[in-house]
Amino acid sequence: MKFFIDTANLDQIKEAQDLGILDGVTTNPSLMAKEGITGDEHILNHYKQICSIVDDNVSAEVIATTYAEIIKEGEALAALNPKIVVKVPMIKDGLKAIKYFSGKGIRTNCTLIFSPGQALLAAKAGATYVSPFLGRLDDISTDGLQLIEDIRLIFDNYGYETQILAASIRGPLHIVNCAKLGADVITAPLSAITALLKHPLTDSGLATFLADHNKAAGK
Ligand code: E4P
Repeated sequence: MKFFIDTANLDQIKEAQDLGILDGVTTNPSLMAKEGITGDEHILNHYKQICSIVDDNVSAEVIATTYAEIIKEGEALAALNPKIVVKVPMIKDGLKAIKYFSGKGIRTNCTLIFSPGQALLAAKAGATYVSPFLGRLDDISTDGLQLIEDIRLIFDNYGYETQILAASIRGPLHIVNCAKLGADVITAPLSAITALLKHPLTDSGLATFLADHNKAAGK
């Protein structure tokens, strides 16, 4: 399973990259705004900086919502760096744009997926990734993990190569459950990724090992 970090914060991206387990980055307009990244030039420059940190898979989301504008913006983003994946919303013009980008060899991430039918359409259009938003479904008392399971079944039924990129991850259990269900990728905040490291028995076990070693060494 691939691990992406869901942030536009350069320090967190560097920290995740240093862990040695990072496969990519996802951003969205809200995450960019949170870092104070506004204005075309600033936004493009920020994506270039992210690309300089990670090996591949930097999802850069279009702001446009009409076909012609999505194509224009997506092509400009893709031209920045071969690591860029153009993130396109699940709307009618977005779907058409995904088909266009797929024909041009430009990788896409179809975002704001909340139903199996939306994922099926995106796969049919040739999306590289679909991003079902688990946490936002859980937030409205709907089973987000069930969506991952349903999409996995549908993609496997037809051999779609589109990868399931589980998004809107809230914590470490979401990540583990996505892995059990066969999601191809998770994108999560750094805190959810590093939470996977922790277990109280690891901490107490290590403390005992070190104490025993020091006692035997007469320290
Ligand atoms: C996906 O790519 C989105 O950036 C993200 O996962 C949304 O997460 P949120 O629901 O925590 O905003």
